[in-house]
Amino acid sequence: LKIGLVPTMGSLHDGHLSLVETMAAHADRVIVSIFVNPTQFAAHEDLDTYPRQEAADLTALANTQPTKGGRLAVYMPTVTEIYPAGFATGISVGGVAEGLESAERPHFFAGVALVVHKLFTQSQADIAIFGEKDYQQLLVIRQMVRDLDLPIEILAGAIIREADGLAMSSRNAYLSAEQRRLAGQLNQILARLANSTDDPEQAAAQATAALLKAGFSKVDYACLRHAETLAEITAGDDAPRRALIAARLGDIRLLDNMAAN
Ligand code: PAF
Repeated sequence: LKIGLVPTMGSLHDGHLSLVETMAAHADRVIVSIFVNPTQFAAHEDLDTYPRQEAADLTALANTQPTKGGRLAVYMPTVTEIYPAGFATGISVGGVAEGLESAERPHFFAGVALVVHKLFTQSQADIAIFGEKDYQQLLVIRQMVRDLDLPIEILAGAIIREADGLAMSSRNAYLSAEQRRLAGQLNQILARLANSTDDPEQAAAQATAALLKAGFSKVDYACLRHAETLAEITAGDDAPRRALIAARLGDIRLLDNMAAN
């Protein structure tokens, strides 16, 4: 039997449900894990207020294809089941984990790698899926799997968007009505960056200026990178490219990315 794992932090939206449905086509049994992982939050971040809605999550999962076929299990470990007293091991991923998200959240990928490795081992899954919404995270997981010879296949799930293009995210629940209206512009600016024929540095500067003009309070990054290594690219490079943006509306950080020309 092929076991498929869909790791989540709960507060499930259609993006997560699409990962579950995709996994249903690749595995005989599907495990959805719901665990708000403390080690990927810094002390000043939103661990305590991160949206939690377990009853609604279970209802949403009840309508998915693997549940209807009796093929879905939900795993909701406690913090001590993942990190028992005396826990003292860490995982440090380099390469694709460097820069971008790590510049703002230096603790983040160590926490993600650790919990994902534990979930892989605990579930004994043959295959796991991660959304492209967190594109750097997906590449970090692939790097860890490759480097540590983990016997698991990694699938990527396409980004699911709201009608105005905003990528679905549990943190979108934090947006005020006015911020929500502005947030839709992120995707349009990202699409222009992805399709730009200008020099990558110039295209990035234009995207940053457009975000600030649209009302974003801070742009952590807006750039074109090598789609597999996340290395910086220059005008002549014909490597596959990815456009990536992280920008803030007040305290809320929005991420999005897109394959580029
Ligand atoms: O993308 C997420 O929701 C989390 O980072 C993950 C992969 C479930 C690890 O906690």
